[in-house]
Amino acid sequence: MAITTSQQTGKAGELYVPRHIAVIMDGNGRWAKKRGLPRTAGHAVGAEAFRKIALHCRDIGVEYLTVYAFSTENWKRPEDEVGTIMRLLGKYLQEAIETMEREKMKMRIFGDVTGLHPELQGMIAKTNEISRHIDGFQANICLNYGGRAEILQAAQRYAEDYSRDPEKALTEELFSDYLYSSGVPDPDLMIRTGGEQRISNFLLWQCAYAEFYFTDVLWPDFSPAELDRAIAAFQKRDRRYGGVKA
Ligand code: IPE
Ligand code: IPE
Ligand code: MG
Repeated sequence: MAITTSQQTGKAGELYVPRHIAVIMDGNGRWAKKRGLPRTAGHAVGAEAFRKIALHCRDIGVEYLTVYAFSTENWKRPEDEVGTIMRLLGKYLQEAIETMEREKMKMRIFGDVTGLHPELQGMIAKTNEISRHIDGFQANICLNYGGRAEILQAAQRYAEDYSRDPEKALTEELFSDYLYSSGVPDPDLMIRTGGEQRISNFLLWQCAYAEFYFTDVLWPDFSPAELDRAIAAFQKRDRRYGGVKA
């Protein structure tokens, strides 16, 4: 499968690897159910799938991978499922602290981290610290993340700044700096696994011009080969941004 040529040239007719891929990692529960396992087993295998996909992205020259790991709405789930997801996140973050420097993988968390267990907050602070010394591929993990909540907190913070400095004119560019994703270019490709075709409150602002790719493959089964398939589909798209074909 044709994956790689020059990165990010964007020239007509030239294949390029998306600079930023976003993923709604959906289908863990159904994957487990199909096997007669508890939903939580699906989350454990899903965490492994994430590791493989992140390393593959790094290896093929993707610069940013942003994944939806836990939404502001996922707190509605049964307590034991939420507890297991949080434990798995802790395990993942601990592993990341130990390996990210060697694997040359920067990490950022998007979301309201103040709503997470203090132990998780401590690990997140550590990953931020380690990331400062790493150059290159960046994984953004959306945790206690909601697109609307992100826009609201940005508006609130802008309003506070504006009250101190009314000269601060609001532009799309300036507003983007108040989002969790500040400094990260918008996703080029948005993938949702698990068969649903909806955005579920993910990156509402940032996906204005993302290309969408939906697959029935359940997240724990999503392999690097599946990612290559999504990229190949992306490479056939004609991105016009409201203009006309060149
Ligand atoms: C996605 O898989 C993971 C999280 C939302 C944490 P689901 O748990 O939503 O799996 P399905 O959609 O029920 O199969
Ligand atoms: C979106 O999946 C959230 C994550 C993948 C973390 P959900 O399973 O929560 O979304 P809905 O309920 O199908 O919209
Ligand atoms: Mg789901």
